[in-house]
Amino acid sequence: MTSIPYIDEARLWKRHMAMAKIGALPGGGVNRPALSPGDAQSRSLLARWAEDLGFSVATDPIGNLFVRRPGADDSLAPVMSGSHLDTQPTGGKFDGAFGVLAAFEALQAIHEAGIVTKRPIEVVSWTNEEGSRFQPGCSGSSAFTGAIPLDRILAAVDRDGISARDALAAVLSSERGMAMRPLGFPVAAYLECHIEQGPRLEEAGIPVGIVTGIQGSRWFAVEVLGDEAHAGTTPRRNRRDALVAAVAMVSALERLMLDEEDRVRFTVGRFEVQPGSPNTIPGRVFFTIDFRHPEASTLKRLGDQVDAVCRAHAGPCAVTIEETFHSLPTEFDPTVVAAMRGAAERLGVRTLDLSSGALHDAKFLQDVCPSGMLFVPCEGGISHNEAENAKPSDLADGTRVLAETLVALANA
Ligand code: GLV
Ligand code: MN
Ligand code: MN
Ligand code: MN
Repeated sequence: MTSIPYIDEARLWKRHMAMAKIGALPGGGVNRPALSPGDAQSRSLLARWAEDLGFSVATDPIGNLFVRRPGADDSLAPVMSGSHLDTQPTGGKFDGAFGVLAAFEALQAIHEAGIVTKRPIEVVSWTNEEGSRFQPGCSGSSAFTGAIPLDRILAAVDRDGISARDALAAVLSSERGMAMRPLGFPVAAYLECHIEQGPRLEEAGIPVGIVTGIQGSRWFAVEVLGDEAHAGTTPRRNRRDALVAAVAMVSALERLMLDEEDRVRFTVGRFEVQPGSPNTIPGRVFFTIDFRHPEASTLKRLGDQVDAVCRAHAGPCAVTIEETFHSLPTEFDPTVVAAMRGAAERLGVRTLDLSSGALHDAKFLQDVCPSGMLFVPCEGGISHNEAENAKPSDLADGTRVLAETLVALANA
């Protein structure tokens, strides 16, 4: 039996508001791109809070940030919890930050309650979860778990031509002196708290979701090349309009992905037209595809058609299609799911089982250690939006279940 650590709801909320000031947008949201100066500032704020409490702080070759409280047997692999501090370009205050701050609040509460755990407990902030600046996302967790080689992750380039390698070097050089740990050290178990980013918990009036799994996703980058030419003088027979071809591709893909049950998620989130002049025929279009489904068979069947559909609608243009990310559906570890359920029952917190439509770092951790996730409701199910909001009491309930589960797993 563990004793229940005291979670400070007001302190947890205050830290969310302090974190949200870094990269704050006028509309109430946050813009903290991965490995930007704002991201570095959010890391140093977390490191300062940790050092003030006497916890050790370390990083690794992809810039993941670890805060550690030793265990009674400090040679054992830690139980770990966290999420990410980078945001979407017009993101909210809770996506990612909640998982890091919940883990940190749990660590502080466990510490202040004087609870000794057999294993160390660590808080982690994974680098570039969002994937909006450098593709694909979940860079930190996929480098840590070996899902993607570090060199490939560091070779990614943002829209201004800055490589992830250079952006990371700038962040790490501002943290000179911080301890460096290797990628992929052993982890006993991993837990991640997150806002649901959908409406189910709020609709059900339940404060905590036990996440059973994550749907699969595939990302593609499509480049369509035509010829720039004069808009007023070039007859149709001589046009190679990259925009006309790209629009036909997107429409055909949208038709392919239409399913009666509304389970397929298909998004073209970036669409760039060059040269972007009203009276020049577009010579190049670049667009991205984010396609997700809970079943591996559908993920394969529809995803495998993307290439052929794009080629069939290229007309006189050339097209190249690159699959930039492929993640199979994941089921979380049953023992971790049971531990979270048991913790919620002991605390008297009502829960609902649900699966995740969004991708999370926990997906990659599940490949190397038993992992699980807890969701809390967010207002209107809205996320990846400046209006993202959550109730302090729900954040605290999720954090209570997290702390109780962490203690149980760290003593197992
Ligand atoms: C990130 O938030 C994702 O689910 O892609
Ligand atoms: Mn997130
Ligand atoms: Mn997100
Ligand atoms: Mn995500």
